[in-house]
Amino acid sequence: MSRPVTTVRPADTVADAATVMRERRVGSVVVTDHDERAIGILTERDMIRIAAAGSDASTAKVSEWMTPDPDTIGSGVEARRAFATLSEHGYRHIPVVDDGRLVGIVSMRDLMRIAMIQPADAQAHEVPKGLEGVVVAETTVGDVRGLEGFYHYRQYSAVDLAKARPIEDIWQLLFEGRLPETLAEREAFAAHTRPRRTIPADVREVLPAIAKAGKAFVPLDALRTSLSQFGTAEGFRASHDIDRAELYDNALATCAVVPTLITALWRLRQGLEPIEPRDDLAYAANYLYMMHGGVPTAEHAAAVEKYLISTIDHGFNASTFTARVITSTGADLVAAVVGGIGALSGPLHGGAPSRALQMLDEIGTPDRAEGWLRDAVERGDRLMGFGHRVYKTDDPRSLMLRDVADSLGGEKMELARHIEATAIKVLDELKPGRRLYTNVEFYAGIVMDSCGIPRELFTPTFAASRVIGWCTHILEQAADNRLIRPSAQYVGGAPPQPVPPIS
Ligand SMILES: CC(C)(COP(=O)(O)OP(=O)(O)OC[C@H]1O[C@@H](n2cnc3c(N)ncnc32)[C@H](O)[C@@H]1OP(=O)(O)O)[C@@H](O)C(=O)NCCC(=O)NCCS
Repeated sequence: MSRPVTTVRPADTVADAATVMRERRVGSVVVTDHDERAIGILTERDMIRIAAAGSDASTAKVSEWMTPDPDTIGSGVEARRAFATLSEHGYRHIPVVDDGRLVGIVSMRDLMRIAMIQPADAQAHEVPKGLEGVVVAETTVGDVRGLEGFYHYRQYSAVDLAKARPIEDIWQLLFEGRLPETLAEREAFAAHTRPRRTIPADVREVLPAIAKAGKAFVPLDALRTSLSQFGTAEGFRASHDIDRAELYDNALATCAVVPTLITALWRLRQGLEPIEPRDDLAYAANYLYMMHGGVPTAEHAAAVEKYLISTIDHGFNASTFTARVITSTGADLVAAVVGGIGALSGPLHGGAPSRALQMLDEIGTPDRAEGWLRDAVERGDRLMGFGHRVYKTDDPRSLMLRDVADSLGGEKMELARHIEATAIKVLDELKPGRRLYTNVEFYAGIVMDSCGIPRELFTPTFAASRVIGWCTHILEQAADNRLIRPSAQYVGGAPPQPVPPIS
C-alpha cells in the first residue's frame, strides 16, 4: 500500500483537491474527518464527472462529489484478495483502515507492481506438474489435437503431407510458410539447400577426434559436439544481434548439414571414411547413401522419408520448448539446437525407438508376449513405444508408420502387431483409464530397422528431421521475442536461517 495517504476535508473545494492530486501525483484522495476516519474518496474519475457536469470546481465542495463511506480493507489482507476486491468492484483505489483509522491506500498500480515482481504467487500452485495443458506461446508452426489423434504442420495434416510431398517441400513450407507450387520452386529450394550438405573443412578436421572420444559411442553426444563446432566455424552470431535473413541462413545451413554430420561421425567411429553427400539424391535417399555408400531402393528411401516427415514437428514437446527458451535469451541458433538435442536424448522423449525394438527382441516370440508385458507393467516398468502426454487415442504417426512397416513386411512386423495388441490389452487392464496406445516410436524402430538404419542411429535420425522443426520455432521465437522466464514455488526450509559456523 502507499503511505502516507493524501487526504482532504469534506469542506475543501474540488479545485483544492485537484491541486493536491496533481502535486502529489496521485489518482485519488481520501476524505477524512477530524478523527482521521475515512468518510469518503474522491478520484480522477470524479474529476471527469465534475468537469462533464460543468460544475465550478472553485466553489463545489468535496463532500458533494466524493463517494461516501468507501469500501476499505485491513492492512493484514493478502494482496491477492485486495486485487480481487478492486477488480470485482471496478475500483482503482481502496483505503486501508485499521481499527477505524486510515493507515494507507492500495491502488491498482501497487498491485500490478507486486504481480510483476512475483508473477507466480498463489497461482503457481495451480500449474500442473510437467506443465501439462499449459499454453505458453502462440505459434503458426503447427499443433497437436491429442483427443482427435490429429496433428498438422501449418494448415495441412502432417500425415497428408507425408503421403503427398517430399520432405524438402515440407521443410520449405515450414521455413517460408507455403508449399512450393511449381517444380521450379521446388528445384530452387533444393538448389539452395543441397550444396550446404557438405561439412565445412574446419569442422571435418575435428570430426575424427569427436567420433573416437569416449569408451562408448553416443551418436547424439557426438552430434551435439560437432554442431557446436559447426556454429563456431560458420561464425553464427547471437540471434539477438542479427536480422531474420541471417538467422534464416544459419537455420538452413544447420538443417542441411545435420544428416551429413550424423553419418560421418558414425562411419568415423567404425574406422570408415565419411561419404560425401550427393546433390543429385533427394534428402532421405542421400541420408541412407551417406550411411552405407549404396543408393537405397526407392521403397526404403520412401519409407525413411515418411518417418522423417512424421517427426519434423509436434507441438510444444520438450526439445522444441527447450530450443525456444534458449532462443528467447537471444543466444545463437546452434546453442538452441544443441539444447534441443540434449532434451531429445532422454528416453521419455526421443530415446525410445531402439528401446522399443529391444523390447521386441527380449519378448522374442508371440507366445511370450502377454507374460512378459504383464510382468513389466506389474513391476512398474514403462513399455517403450506406448503412452503419450498429448495423445489419448491412437497416435496418427504410429498409424502411418504401421502401414509403412506393413508394406515393408518381415517377421518382426508380425511380432510387433501381436505385441501392440497384447500391450494395449494389458495396459488397459493394469492401468485402467490412462488411455495408453502405441506412440510414434513403436513402429519407427521397425521401419528404420527394415531400411538398414542401425539402432544407434535411430534417435539421431529423429534429430535429423526434428532439427527442421526446432529451427522453424527458433525463427518464430526470434521474430517476436520475449525472454521466457517463469517462476517456481519455493517449498524448502523457511528462510532466512542464520548461516551456521563451520565446526
Ligand atoms: C511418453 C510418456 C513419457 C508420457 O508420460 P506422461 O504424460 O508424463 O504420463 P504419466 O507419467 O503421467 O503416466 C500416466 C500413467 O500411465 C502410466 N504409463 C504411461 N506410459 C506408460 C507406459 N509406456 N507403460 C506403462 N505405463 C505407462 C504411468 O505409469 C502412469 O500410471 P499411474 O497413474 O499408475 O502412475 C510416457 O507415456 C512414457 O514414459 N512412455 C514410454 C516411453 C516412450 O515411449 N517415449 C517416447 C515418447 S514419443
